[in-house]
Amino acid sequence: MTNNGRIAVVDLGGQYCHLITRRLRDFAIPSDIFPPAVPAQTLSDYAGVILSGGPQSVYDSDALTVDQDLLNLRIPILGICYGHQLLAKLLGGQVSRQNGEYGFAQLRTTSATRQGENLLFRHTPSVQQVWMSHADAIVSLPSELMTLATTDRCTCAAFAHASKSIYGLQFHPEVAHTEFGSRILENFARYICGIGAKDTPNIRVGILCERIRQAATGRSVFFLVSGGVDSTVAFALCGRALPKERVVGLYVDSGLMRQGETEELRANLAAVGLAERLRIWDASAVFLKALEGKIEPEEKRQIIGRLFVEIQAEAMKQFGINPEHWLLGQGTIYPDTIESGGDSGRAALIKTHHNRCDEIRELIRQGKVIEPLAELYKDEVRELGRELGLPPKLTDRWPFPGPGLAIRCLCTREQRAAAPLAKEISAGLAGQGVQGVVLPLRTVGVQGDARTYRMVIALQPSEQPVDYQRLRYLSSTLCNENTLANRVIWLISPLRPLSGVSITPATITRQRIELLRQADFIVRSAVERANLAHTVWQFPVVLAPIGFESGESIILRPVNSVDGMTASFAALPWSLLNSISARLQELTGIDAVFLDITNKPPATIEWE
Ligand code: XMP
Repeated sequence: MTNNGRIAVVDLGGQYCHLITRRLRDFAIPSDIFPPAVPAQTLSDYAGVILSGGPQSVYDSDALTVDQDLLNLRIPILGICYGHQLLAKLLGGQVSRQNGEYGFAQLRTTSATRQGENLLFRHTPSVQQVWMSHADAIVSLPSELMTLATTDRCTCAAFAHASKSIYGLQFHPEVAHTEFGSRILENFARYICGIGAKDTPNIRVGILCERIRQAATGRSVFFLVSGGVDSTVAFALCGRALPKERVVGLYVDSGLMRQGETEELRANLAAVGLAERLRIWDASAVFLKALEGKIEPEEKRQIIGRLFVEIQAEAMKQFGINPEHWLLGQGTIYPDTIESGGDSGRAALIKTHHNRCDEIRELIRQGKVIEPLAELYKDEVRELGRELGLPPKLTDRWPFPGPGLAIRCLCTREQRAAAPLAKEISAGLAGQGVQGVVLPLRTVGVQGDARTYRMVIALQPSEQPVDYQRLRYLSSTLCNENTLANRVIWLISPLRPLSGVSITPATITRQRIELLRQADFIVRSAVERANLAHTVWQFPVVLAPIGFESGESIILRPVNSVDGMTASFAALPWSLLNSISARLQELTGIDAVFLDITNKPPATIEWE
């Protein structure tokens, strides 16, 4: 029987479900996403089925499942993470809550895999780096499933059915940090599902311009531009697709932007002939007033998103623009949507991105929004920017979030000292030449496809120097083995005992934002001077109300990533970090400087 040469991806609510289709697109394999309730018969023409990850446990009372007839269709099936656990359960295995495994893990294929020349792991080494995000795990397999791979914390990291084409992977082959993930997915599609190479065109400028012209028929576009890569590329695309008089850009100066942002944006737009289409609106006082006294990250994010919509409406009125004839343009990319809870109602809310607040969702429902990049990821947007002729200084620049410095300026009502770590954890750390405390400071993480809001562990060396390899091991182990913390930071300086650190109440003020802006500028300039900016994907600089005396701390968060969906902390030279730290401590009000040594997962890139 012939099939349609496509893969069906069943969305079980995972953060990376859409990323599976993007990876398949990278090697020209077409795919379609379906909800879990899709009847097996609907998929009977497909060449293969992939079950995505998801935030639930397979034993939850409302756990998502699939039509069991799928298992009898004789179509190859691959389950990923939750999908892997669900397949094991449906086939008679057992799953249970274990210690977590988040971010980096070392995968070892079993001898059965190697001897049997298993097609899924074809052309991949027997030991490889994979990225994990799970707390539940398979603890027993039915006899017809055999284990293909393990990790230190997971006895069944991959399985295959003995007689049917059914496979499971506990790790995520679709994320960029899984070293041979693309190859494993391609192996599934080509060798197991038998899909030949097709000509699936990459999304390019021409195709997107055509879509913009169709979506904006009879209307013009009023674009919210932030100066970042996404909104500038999206605005430039609209400028290419439509006559210039039908495109207006609005840059809202929220007072939460980095130093020099407005000037850079003007220069970048001039390169594509759009500088004169830009309007600037100073709303810094409004944003600061609205954020006064606000502590919780989600509350801040909702306020900021709402203000952007209100200001845009006010600006349209003042410019005499009739909303009936105009669409609101935004540079939203796919990670913004999925992190904000996605569109299907199945994914967890990790953090509300400014372009996905309730007010924007309502405008989308009314058909009043145009988002040319909504299906794309950051690396694809950069590629488009280059194709459009935008300057490399823009296309290669570190991403900066819409809510700006507000979500890097941590706030609290607490007043207390750092707490000692539990005895067993401290004893383990002492063996590693490291001491630590728990900071009474909470940050956002993404663990097992769900949001966490947990404490931070701070570490410092107790005797011998500690290298990055050890720090990576320590931060992974600490977050995997306890549910207290989702982030670990390392004290760069001053080298004083961490037991002396305490937290003091703080909220967003003009002075704190200005202090953070200066710190951010110092860090950016130092990394650029060292000619190392291109070695880091993004470098958030965070102001935290913790310190040894009356001052606060700066936390450096350099990360490596491809698309922002997963990340590893970047290992910059210690000499550079030490000199940045010394320079930051010259700022009045800065007491200490830390380095964030957590991957994503378990932590997110931004702290809030
Ligand atoms: P996290 O912190 O969730 O972020 O790992 C992934 C990427 O998204 C950026 N980010 C945002 N970008 N509006 C944006 O335009 C937002 O509200 C927002 N929140 C996070 C973040 O900087 C990182 O690159």
